Amino acid sequence: MRTVTVKPLEELEVGTFCKVTVDQKDILLVRLEDGVFATSDVCTHALVNLSGGWLEGNVICCPKHGGKFDARTGKALAFPAITGLKTYRTSVVDGQIVLEV
Ligand code: FES
Repeated sequence: MRTVTVKPLEELEVGTFCKVTVDQKDILLVRLEDGVFATSDVCTHALVNLSGGWLEGNVICCPKHGGKFDARTGKALAFPAITGLKTYRTSVVDGQIVLEV
């Protein structure tokens, strides 16, 4: 396990997400009112990038078939997504978002 500084917090507004790539893995950073969360950016249903989708509150919505995931836990919330997303721990250090990978 190591930590990687990925982005200034001020570049990710509350209620938005973005993709970062670390070690050739696409990771979705989601900023909510209560912090920054990170999941795999790849939908477990058909391997589409979730960063092409949208956010409804704390729910990540897949652009391909409408699968939904909890941004905080990665849990699959709506069919056809049934397998949850891998999640990553995050922190904010000196105004920078840090990921544990
Ligand atoms: S690819 Fe995401 S729900 Fe099918």
